[in-house]
Amino acid sequence: MTSPVRLALLGCGTVGAEVVRLLHEQSADLAARVGAPLEIAGIAVRRIGRDRGDLPVDPALFTTDALGLIKRDDVDVVVEVVGGIEPARGWLVEALRAGKSVVTANKALLAEDGGALHDAAAEGGGDLYYEASVAGAIPLLRPLRESLHGDRITRVTGIVNGTTNFILSAMHATGAGFAEALEEATELGYAEADPTADVEGFDAAAKAAILASLAFHSRVAAADVHREGITEVTAADVASAKAMGCTIKLLCIAARGADGQGRETVSVRVHPAMIPVTHPLASVGDAFNAVFVEAEAAGQLMFYGRGAGGAPTASAVLGDVVAVARNRLAGVRAASESAYADLPVRPMGEALTRYHISLDVADRPGVLESVAGVFARHDVSIATVRQVPAAGAAGAAGDAVLVIVTHVAPDAALAATVRELRGLDIVRAVASVLRVEGGL
Ligand code: NDP
Ligand code: HSE
Repeated sequence: MTSPVRLALLGCGTVGAEVVRLLHEQSADLAARVGAPLEIAGIAVRRIGRDRGDLPVDPALFTTDALGLIKRDDVDVVVEVVGGIEPARGWLVEALRAGKSVVTANKALLAEDGGALHDAAAEGGGDLYYEASVAGAIPLLRPLRESLHGDRITRVTGIVNGTTNFILSAMHATGAGFAEALEEATELGYAEADPTADVEGFDAAAKAAILASLAFHSRVAAADVHREGITEVTAADVASAKAMGCTIKLLCIAARGADGQGRETVSVRVHPAMIPVTHPLASVGDAFNAVFVEAEAAGQLMFYGRGAGGAPTASAVLGDVVAVARNRLAGVRAASESAYADLPVRPMGEALTRYHISLDVADRPGVLESVAGVFARHDVSIATVRQVPAAGAAGAAGDAVLVIVTHVAPDAALAATVRELRGLDIVRAVASVLRVEGGL
């Protein structure tokens, strides 16, 4: 048998422990697939004495000296499942420059400074794989970076955060408010004690940057992504969406476009949006993830599955480990980063989108004309208008609710329209503003 491929495992938490378990349980199959046994050379953790249950691994392999482990001559592949920017960035740059291959699930680092990792991989000649960083178990990055390389991707629309999808699905199913649904998500272990990264859209924005970089052959960072979370989504918004035959999802959207001079650009955004219940992403419930890819020749493709959790994420990590181990044995490396297109990222104001706006207005002659005039002044075309009597405690006698859905327009024009509507005397309140995606 060929000599083993030796792994340095950085991190042994939710994901790392499952990587250890799967390496143990499937060692014979993995060795057959790779052509050599996969062996753990060491495991770097923060707390060496932590109780790790019945993990099938020699306790002597644990160390707190991650850098020392990475630098060992007998380490071929570094698997990073610690997370965060530093010290992970320093470790991985060191490993890659030294010619080791790296497998990481670290979306935050890839979105913040993926360029530094790709540059270090090019310098050292090893592989950099990160399938687990977006949408957990779902095979998605490999299709984007390999299978679709003969095609031209035009748009990627995804639900890439399980926690927020659980919350929005619960709000849709039960009519609960955001706080109540978040509490349920926390009780069930979906939301972390500090849910900021999920509910404010930071986690989805990091994943959007990674997806856009791969889909459009350009370096897109988290800072380039327009980000809005779901904390402002109300039960009334959800009810309004339902009345329109829609549901609300936190979407990541990366799309090709063109600037005023016709030069190709990309726009990358994360925000809650109404989508029709007939849209393929609308039926993605619970904490599942799904990504809808549109390409010129392939048409529409949908990727669906578990986006988080120890075992699902470890599945993606191990798939990468097998790939990089095979490459090392064959003396080859995977195609390096493809960022040749170098497309500029358009500001959110230029992104083309549609709005659903709910207004509490005085119900008297001329109101509709005044409201329509605001849209016209900002060159925003109205698609549909629906008027219903104001209901409940909020609605005074003689008031009505106007529900307006626009055609596609630049986001800046839509935002300016809403600002002006808020200043009109006849508008008692702008009750809800949501973007609309996926036709209606
Ligand atoms: P955990 O917090 O469960 O585990 C982190 C591990 O890193 C722990 O073993 C911890 O050690 C170790 N660690 C932390 N700091 C250091 C340090 N300075 N030196 C050495 N070891 C350190 O994280 P997860 O397993 O949940 O996530 C790991 C990565 O996978 C992250 O990048 C995350 O974004 C990504 N990911 C996670 C998913 C999930 O469902 N959990 C899904 C997709 C991606 P100790 O055990 O001693 O505390
Ligand atoms: N917090 C993330 C989620 C974990 O809820 O989807 C996977 O990246």
